[in-house]
Amino acid sequence: MTRKSQVAVIGLGNIGAAIVTNLTKGKRSVIVADRTIEKANQLSQRLGSLVQPATIADAIKQADIVVLAIYFDPIKEFFKTYATELQGKIIVDPSNPIAPDENGGFKKIIGVDESAGQILSTLLPYEAKLAKALGTLGAESLASASFQTPEKAVEFYATDDSSINNKIEELIRDNGFEPLRIGGLNQSIRLEVFGDLHQFGALGKTVTLAEAKNIINNI
Ligand SMILES: NC(=O)c1ccc[n+]([C@@H]2O[C@H](COP(=O)([O-])OP(=O)(O)OC[C@H]3O[C@@H](n4cnc5c(N)ncnc54)[C@H](OP(=O)(O)O)[C@@H]3O)[C@@H](O)[C@H]2O)c1
Repeated sequence: MTRKSQVAVIGLGNIGAAIVTNLTKGKRSVIVADRTIEKANQLSQRLGSLVQPATIADAIKQADIVVLAIYFDPIKEFFKTYATELQGKIIVDPSNPIAPDENGGFKKIIGVDESAGQILSTLLPYEAKLAKALGTLGAESLASASFQTPEKAVEFYATDDSSINNKIEELIRDNGFEPLRIGGLNQSIRLEVFGDLHQFGALGKTVTLAEAKNIINNI
């Protein structure tokens, strides 16, 4: 049996903690890091020995796949700060390029036709590979729909590099979801808030694989 890729989750807030919790349910080990080691230590103490705390630089160095569960603007800075450590890594981006608006909702902070995924694809560290994934559901659904029965819910993903499809799909399955690739990063906008395949867009809910294929075939 081939070794599973080592995953690191950086940013242990709503989404990061949900992904780490899901991975422990999927019996997958995961390295965790945040701005401070205390947050990583606390999560490890809560979830057990599959969760290994590390500094950000060490987490990236030890990982094949780095999930960046932080906000879109800080990711751009993160690419610069950790450009050396991130060389050649698979980077997973769940980010939504949004900020609170004046009506208690959210607004996009980039152009209406732009996506975080496409913008980040132009800023990648040397030979890093990017997948837009694990961001199409709100944190609550990401936690509650994980390993749902009788049929798993779908997590859509997009990447330009089909050589990483298997690793991304394994990561999504170990999170308790059925993976469905919708194409390259030029499709990222569909996977971000307001997109047609996002829970907080036209999709509006979790869907099973059959429902997802039906929706995609009818577009
Ligand atoms: N929440 C959702 O329902 C949801 C759904 C889909 C996608 N997303 C996306 O997921 C990402 C994370 O959202 P969230 O709701 O989980 O945010 P969050 O609860 O604020 O968590 C972000 C975590 O990352 C840490 N952090 C921030 N900048 C960092 C850096 N440069 N290096 C290391 N750690 C850093 C934060 O630490 P501090 O507290 O010290 O700042 C915090 O622990 C965002 O891009 C968001 O758009 C969120």
